[in-house]
Parts: sequence; C-alpha cells; structure tokens
Amino acid sequence: MPNAIVTGGSAGLGLALITDLVAAGWTVTTTARNRATLAQVADPLDGVHWLAGDVADPDHRERLVRLAAEAGPIELLINNASELGGSPQPQLRDLAGDTFARILAVNLVAPLELINAARPWLAPDAVIINLSSDAAADHYAGWGGYAASKSALDHLTATLAAEEPERRWYAVDPGDLRTAMHQAAFPGEDISDRPLPETASPAFLRLITTRPASGRYRAAEVA
Ligand SMILES: NC(=O)c1ccc[n+]([C@@H]2O[C@H](COP(=O)([O-])OP(=O)(O)OC[C@H]3O[C@@H](n4cnc5c(N)ncnc54)[C@H](OP(=O)(O)O)[C@@H]3O)[C@@H](O)[C@H]2O)c1
Repeated sequence: MPNAIVTGGSAGLGLALITDLVAAGWTVTTTARNRATLAQVADPLDGVHWLAGDVADPDHRERLVRLAAEAGPIELLINNASELGGSPQPQLRDLAGDTFARILAVNLVAPLELINAARPWLAPDAVIINLSSDAAADHYAGWGGYAASKSALDHLTATLAAEEPERRWYAVDPGDLRTAMHQAAFPGEDISDRPLPETASPAFLRLITTRPASGRYRAAEVA
C-alpha cells in the first residue's frame, strides 16, 4: 500500500485529506498536538497511524518519520499543519517577535525540516505538498506574519523542485475553507458560506495521481 505522512490530520483540511487517502488505499501517518482529539478522529480510520506532538519540535518530527517508515518507503508528504499567529491577527507593527518566530517555526522551518528528516525513507519519486494560501501571493492588512511564512514556503517549494526534479513539489492554495483556522482568521464572522474542507481534498488526490509538473497550484483550478 502506498505510504504517506500528513501533518495536522485531526481537523479541517488535514482530516479530509487523511480520510480520502485511506479510502484510496493509502497508509497515512499523521500528527496534531491535541492527543485526545487526534485519537478520537484517527482511531476509527483503518490505515491511519498517529503520534501526538508539535511539528515545531525536532524530536517529534524524527519520531513521526520513523513511525511512518515502519509502513515502507514514504511516497507522499503533506505539510498541512499551520499556525495563524493570533485571533484577530495583529498588524505588523503589533506583531510580537515571539509570535512571528512561532509562525515561522511551524509554517516554514518545520515543513523543510520534516522533509529533511524523512529523506532516509523518502521514495525517489515522492510527492511533497506544502500548504500555501492566497495570502502568500496577495497582501491583506493583518495577515503579514502568516503571509510571509506561506510566501517563503512557496519559495522553498519551488527551490526544492529545481534541486530535485525527479520528485514532485507542489505548493497548494486550498482556497477559503470552513475550518477552525478560517474562523480564527475572521473572529465573530459567519463563515458558513465557505466550502467545507472535504470539497478541496479531491484536488489533492488528483495532483497525487496525475503528477503534473512541480509548481504552485490552486485547488479550485486542479479540481
Ligand atoms: N481554512 C482555510 O480557509 C485555509 C485557506 C488557505 C490555506 N489554508 C491552509 O490549509 C492548511 C490547513 O488549514 P485548516 O484550516 O484545515 O486548519 P485547522 O482546521 O486549524 O486544522 C489544523 C490542524 O493542524 C494541527 N496543528 C496545528 N498546529 C500544529 C502544530 N504546531 N503541530 C502539529 N499539528 C498542528 C491541528 O491540531 P492541533 O491544534 O491539535 O495541533 C489541526 O489538526 C493550513 O496550512 C492553512 O494555512 C487554509
């Protein structure tokens, strides 16, 4: 069975992704910080292995890739877990240094370090997907810290594609989704008009199976 790591599988898009991947025959190793929530959603899913922890923790990343490698070569890695940096998000003049450092640690450093930790078991033609955002390409007041992390992650993804063309490297903007993170980004607003994360997941499955050229994609275009 093909073998994957997907971070942030206990909720939102990550949960939709692990659900659809195991339905498609993948074995998936996932993680999230809240152990009880992760166990509750992952235990009923055949083919899902999980380990609670923080992707910003190097020891946790190492344990996660070793757990995933027990199922064989890692053919897919999706860096989905992410940090918004506050709700409401502060404007840049009010962005505390430790908050910005935390955003970068989770959204930028952890994805690259997880890829590098997985390298001993990463299949030569593996697919790596890093979650981007429209905020990586556009500029919105209050989104500066998060957007900078996603923009830099897009850049890392493109650089990895140039350095390792035998693999597929995708930065994917899933579009607005009705999730806890989206609600935190719009505190107090009714976000019931946003699509559910399950609607974005098929675009990821399509990328994985059709393997178009490495690059930045919007889920709506892929679907
Ligand atoms: N929702 C949108 O509208 C939207 C739009 C554009 C891009 N995105 C991107 O899509 C991805 C998924 O977003 P989402 O809205 O589905 O988020 P979400 O509903 O908030 O879910 C985030 C998941 O990641 C886990 N997580 C967060 N920080 C973590 C950490 N440091 N270590 C390990 N796990 C962590 C969470 O569990 P714990 O809290 O228990 O750790 C949860 O399982 C993110 O990369 C986000 O930037 C989302």
